[in-house]
Amino acid sequence: MEFTTKLSGLVARVERGIDRELPPANDAPARLHEAMRYSLQAGGKRLRPVLVLTAAELFDPSGHIDPVPAAVAVECIHTYSLIHDDLPCMDNDNLRRGRPTCHRAFDEATALLAGDALLTFAFFLLSDAYASHASLAADLCRELAEAAGSRNLVGGQMLDLLGEKSPAVTDEMLHRIHAGKTGAMIRASLVLGGLIGGAPPAAIAVLREGGSDLGLAFQIVDDILDATGDTATLGKTPGKDAKAGKATFVTLHGPEHARRVAEAKSSAASRAFLSLPGDTAFLLELVQNLMTRTR
Ligand code: IPE
Ligand code: IPE
Ligand code: MG
Ligand code: MG
Ligand code: MG
Repeated sequence: MEFTTKLSGLVARVERGIDRELPPANDAPARLHEAMRYSLQAGGKRLRPVLVLTAAELFDPSGHIDPVPAAVAVECIHTYSLIHDDLPCMDNDNLRRGRPTCHRAFDEATALLAGDALLTFAFFLLSDAYASHASLAADLCRELAEAAGSRNLVGGQMLDLLGEKSPAVTDEMLHRIHAGKTGAMIRASLVLGGLIGGAPPAAIAVLREGGSDLGLAFQIVDDILDATGDTATLGKTPGKDAKAGKATFVTLHGPEHARRVAEAKSSAASRAFLSLPGDTAFLLELVQNLMTRTR
């Protein structure tokens, strides 16, 4: 099947899953559920949930255990992280996924609570949807909690803010920021898919390793797009990193160096994935496509 057809099919599965699993917008308190859906159903790229589905399919093409709830859980955490990332006390952004940020469309308190609710809902969904596979449910929760917590996503966000205007951000620190705030969730998406597909431990280790490299490449491309992209295509405001004094691969080393590091990490991810069993063609093409993305 052609790459774009397969990708849009996976995205459509994710969109249907989101609509099915999330509390209806008119459930009380409606304002909160509206805000959750407003941000979640705003048409992101759905990379992380697509990675969950893709990894699961590699190991279990007939889909004995449905990976969609895990894909939705991952997207809930990612979307919560974006809602909070955009708050005035963090990156202070007005535009996300082509529309006003959650705190702009609603208000700060509602955005904070919508983020809290999405974060919590992700773990409800995992424990509920995989309840009949108790050990798998526990593994999925552990993996996702580890990636989303203070040593990874939240920790990376902390370091990102501490790095603002700090003159002393080393390369090692920059890697820690990016691996934490972005790499861990991309890695976890692949691992969750692998676990659902029944991947053996050696393959899970490959997904972990390749996922970390892919995650780093992804955030470096995000840094490049912040410096070079336009609002209409990105769906968010470019030029914010330099203005905020963020430590990124572009602000510290310039766009050419950033591109080289991203290419190297992306190639490392491809090499790792090439060694996996099953039909890796789609995954490999996805990795390549992420290097030339414009949003
Ligand atoms: C944006 O992630 C934040 C980063 C971690 C770079 P995405 O670029 O995946 O955003 P959406 O989900 O497509 O909106
Ligand atoms: C955000 O990094 C990473 C997370 C939301 C965890 P950025 O702050 O660079 O993401 P954008 O550019 O606002 O999407
Ligand atoms: Mg940020
Ligand atoms: Mg931001
Ligand atoms: Mg960015």
